[in-house]
Amino acid sequence: MSQLTTDLQADLDALKAAGTYKRLNYLESPQGARVRMEGKGEVIVLSSNNYLGLSNEPEIVQAGVDALAQFGAGTASVRFICGTFTIHRELEAALARFVGTPSSLSFVAAWNANEALTPTIAREGDFVVSDALNHASIIDSIRLAKAITKCTTAVYKHADMDDLRDKLRSAKDAKRRIIWTDGVFSMEGAIAKLPEIVQLAREHDAIVVVDDSHATGVLGKTGRGTAEHFGMLGEVDIITSTLGKALGGAAGGFVAGPEALCDMMTQRSRPQLFSNALPPTVAASALAAVHFTEAHPERVARLQDNTRYFRTAIQDAGFHPLAGDTPIVPIIVGETAVAIRMSDMLLDRGVFVTGFGFPVVPQGTARLRCQISAAHTRDDLDAVVAAFVEVRETGEGRR
Ligand SMILES: Cc1ncc(COP(=O)(O)O)c(C=O)c1O
Repeated sequence: MSQLTTDLQADLDALKAAGTYKRLNYLESPQGARVRMEGKGEVIVLSSNNYLGLSNEPEIVQAGVDALAQFGAGTASVRFICGTFTIHRELEAALARFVGTPSSLSFVAAWNANEALTPTIAREGDFVVSDALNHASIIDSIRLAKAITKCTTAVYKHADMDDLRDKLRSAKDAKRRIIWTDGVFSMEGAIAKLPEIVQLAREHDAIVVVDDSHATGVLGKTGRGTAEHFGMLGEVDIITSTLGKALGGAAGGFVAGPEALCDMMTQRSRPQLFSNALPPTVAASALAAVHFTEAHPERVARLQDNTRYFRTAIQDAGFHPLAGDTPIVPIIVGETAVAIRMSDMLLDRGVFVTGFGFPVVPQGTARLRCQISAAHTRDDLDAVVAAFVEVRETGEGRR
């Protein structure tokens, strides 16, 4: 054991020396546009996925409290063994309706939903192809499917439709072809080219799976995600998403698609068969978040307005965000050390925005990833831009 501790400590020291050690910041208040951070006081948050500002919305918090009183803490076992709560069925029906599929099945995290999906649907002889910038949970899901089922796999260059076509052509003899993409790519804020992907899938008899974790509640006039953004509701075969971002921000995820898919996930997917259900309080808050989003499309519109406002203001101030329409606004600063120093300096000025560097993003493209929320006021966003300018005046982040 002592040797293990010594080895781990050496690895941690190496992370610190490389400037890639992650320090946890503790919050003393609910998530929101502004939070109280231990040791820092009040800070404006630009690094949460609280896109619609629902994580401390009174009726969503109250729904969780009520469910705790009605159902208690949880089932104390997995769903098929000890029963499942009616709130899960209600949530799953609401999620399916919201994203435009016949059915859905909840998981304790989108990570689990993604991890569950590919090994459940892929079989030997199938071919799974994945965008190069897909989320880690998709990558692990495909690795697991390959190890378990002996399906074949490939990665296509990010958003490169010619490469995707080539990869699909090369797999024309596979039994089934499955295309996996993020709806919105979390480090770039780019939107998947869904119309082209669906078209290629039709031409090559492939199944399309979209992880809409950063698109649910965010894209489309009513927040239904990437499909709504492109006017393609009902045209995506399988959607996965999280309840841990726009839809209340607690935790949880889901797979949405045909009824037979969700039934088979209940029968066979290992995170469903061997792990407890979403706690009822979290399920109830997420259900209230779906109802709230359906009843308040103006909240989605406010997120989209805030996004446009911030993108324009930060550009007018002379910074270079990656172009796009989503509330993920990455500001490229170059070297990892610069991103980390700027993030620290912004925090000293009351602005919490995380810096990402290599290996999370390619070498030389380190960035400050700003995430906009409907909860931000124009004053919040102006204060953020002013803090960026102030940090640049110290000499940091000039390119
Ligand atoms: C694209 C994408 N998929 C899945 C996840 C995992 O979500 P969860 O926190 O619900 O496990 C994330 C979270 O960062 C994500 O960005």
